[in-house]
Amino acid sequence: MKQFVFAVLIVFWACQAPKNKDAAAMVERIPEVEALLAKMTLEEKVGQMAQVTLDVITVGANQFHSDEPLQLDMDLVRKALVEYHVGSILNTANNRARTVETWHEVISQLQEVATKETRLGIPIIYGVDAIHGTTYTAGATFFPQQIGQAATFNRQLVRKGGEITAYETRASGIPWNFSPVLDMGRDPRFPRMWETFGEDVYLTSQLGIELVKGYEGDNNDISDPTRVAACLKHYLGYSVPVSGKDRTPALIPEIELRERHLPAFKAAIDAGAHSVMVNSGIINGVPVHASYELLTKLLKEELGFTGLVVTDWKDIENLHDRDKVATSQKEAVKLAINAGIDMSMIPYNFDFCNYLVELVNEGEVSISRIDDAVRRILNMKFKLGLFEHPVTHYNDYPLFGSEEFVQAAYQTAVESVTLLKNEGNVLPLKKNARVLVTGPNANSMRALNGGWSYSWQGEKVHEFSQAYATILKAIEDKIGKGSVVFHEGVRYNNDARYWVDEVVDIQATVKAAAGVDYIILALGENSYCEKPGDLHDLSLSENQVALVKALAKTGKPMIMVLNEGRPRIIRTIEPDVKAVLQSYLPGNFGGLAVADILFGEVNPSGKLPYTYPLFVNSLVTYDHKPSEHQARMVGVYDYESDFAIQYPFGFGLSYTTFEYSNLTLSSDKLQKNGKLEISVKVKNTGDMEGKETVLLYTSDLFASVTPDVKRLRGFEKINLKPGEEQTVSFSLTPEDVSFINAQNKRVTEPGEFVVRIAELKAEFTYVE
Ligand code: BGC
Repeated sequence: MKQFVFAVLIVFWACQAPKNKDAAAMVERIPEVEALLAKMTLEEKVGQMAQVTLDVITVGANQFHSDEPLQLDMDLVRKALVEYHVGSILNTANNRARTVETWHEVISQLQEVATKETRLGIPIIYGVDAIHGTTYTAGATFFPQQIGQAATFNRQLVRKGGEITAYETRASGIPWNFSPVLDMGRDPRFPRMWETFGEDVYLTSQLGIELVKGYEGDNNDISDPTRVAACLKHYLGYSVPVSGKDRTPALIPEIELRERHLPAFKAAIDAGAHSVMVNSGIINGVPVHASYELLTKLLKEELGFTGLVVTDWKDIENLHDRDKVATSQKEAVKLAINAGIDMSMIPYNFDFCNYLVELVNEGEVSISRIDDAVRRILNMKFKLGLFEHPVTHYNDYPLFGSEEFVQAAYQTAVESVTLLKNEGNVLPLKKNARVLVTGPNANSMRALNGGWSYSWQGEKVHEFSQAYATILKAIEDKIGKGSVVFHEGVRYNNDARYWVDEVVDIQATVKAAAGVDYIILALGENSYCEKPGDLHDLSLSENQVALVKALAKTGKPMIMVLNEGRPRIIRTIEPDVKAVLQSYLPGNFGGLAVADILFGEVNPSGKLPYTYPLFVNSLVTYDHKPSEHQARMVGVYDYESDFAIQYPFGFGLSYTTFEYSNLTLSSDKLQKNGKLEISVKVKNTGDMEGKETVLLYTSDLFASVTPDVKRLRGFEKINLKPGEEQTVSFSLTPEDVSFINAQNKRVTEPGEFVVRIAELKAEFTYVE
């Protein structure tokens, strides 16, 4: 039966996919690399395909732990690099950030052994997750997490963030970054939603390109010592498991995979990204690490990806231990390498090397597959300039942690903050206001930063972020300590597995509100990452709801500042507050950004990169099908199950007002191979300077596959002074309004389309 399903799958893919090319033949032949390859033994080749974590080669090494202060155990280093020829090391030791000096020392020592004590002197490649700044380097510049970056809708800021992160990662001696995340943030239950650019395909594709170019440079010349190699992850369809829990099975039909999940990867590959990390999960019953269809046929052949494909953490072992598709560890290695994996993030032992050598000797894995994998790895090392300069030196990076970088991170944070409600224009507050600041997120740098901040779960943030302002501190700095009363009310229990919170003293908090003009509620989530962030209930915690309900009785105007990685349900308390500010996970400058917006020094300009749900059972995205609106469609009933959300995708208020007019199309027809020019006038009709993101949507009115109600096709962020007007232009091609049809082919079908910008709309017809 198994074989039958496999055969059907192969036939299915062979029929559907465009003509595939020979993946290995497409990989560049670099003479220096070819010369090396020709000299390498099988063991040396296999070693290049192995990656272990730093804790494996440090003094006191024991999986997640090693002794402090960090010191390499040179015997273990030699075992890895000389005996096993290991080609790559990742991660920090002891799950802790290090200074640039320590990084330099550690990586120099490793390169010394790799280049001087091995037969061929091939440098190792070091990789880390520098996903919102250089995660594991003390003093590095931290940006908002990707979900906040998406809310800025600002391509320049995202690119600048990528450039700075690349620079500071290289200042730490590290040339490879496991970023960007191009998974789609389409399910708020997923604990890694905040690592994504949100739910929209176009926004994710556009910002993904910016991060790749920020990391690798305009022409992807990664020999430039201020650039790093990007790693697109987690290919493919990682973020939508059925249960919402990390690394649990997903069911994604090919039509959906190609419509929503593939485009951002394709765009980033076309933008030249050098590496890809594989989805740790299971799609339609097949672990992606064992999927020849997804790794070789789709990624390497159809998309023409010629870079390096690395596994996620321990995921070859997971084929046996967790997913049960391999009866032994050895079979797991065979499945993965034959599926198209080039490098294994093993990361704790060297068994992979032994098994793979045996498999090649037994004819179970071909030497041409090994050569292809090693060529891809060595090509990247060569392009990074590692053969000439195995390690960069922090002294050559004077801008590390500079004021210029801090400004960029602050600007990204402040442009991400999204004003979702402002009843009676309660915001901005006057600086002579007296406020009660409360809630578990009020005085926490950890919550502002989220996971992947100085440590995996973000639990070590307080040790490294002393110099930065929490929301509370930033408000105190702004209006004076004397005008601020602070009562936490509820706090996170940092020792609890699911980062639960507990009541401190709600009654005391209510009492403290007596003398103030406003209550600022800083609510949301503590930091978390991956599996430990799995949730059983998307609702905001009961304790936080209780705090808001108790304070509501005071009748004081309340402002809710959300600081959360995914939209927790706030339906029952939202009516109690006058204003809502979403800050996502804004990083070290988030406190400052929130205070500047609360007190009107900056006009908010963020927009939601996802649909904020109203109910736990109604998780929909903006690009849903028309049938989500059935109750209203028939116009008679008002079914309780009808489309209901808290705030829409793309929503975000300003302290000024913008008026849209003159939506103009260059023609009412879009021809095959043609282009439609679209323009609109936007005017600042209020009295404060402000930034506005102009969003262009299209709707395909009828199609052979039920069309989405609308799709984002363009965005531009502009700045307007009071009274100022600007014309914003977009262009649309037939490809821009295409979709995947029932045969899994990308098509644009003739017919009518509607263009929408704000409340304006116009129509055109696509003709072939
Ligand atoms: C995560 C990846 C990450 C890798 C290396 C895994 O657990 O899923 O996103 O790049 O660890 O740290």
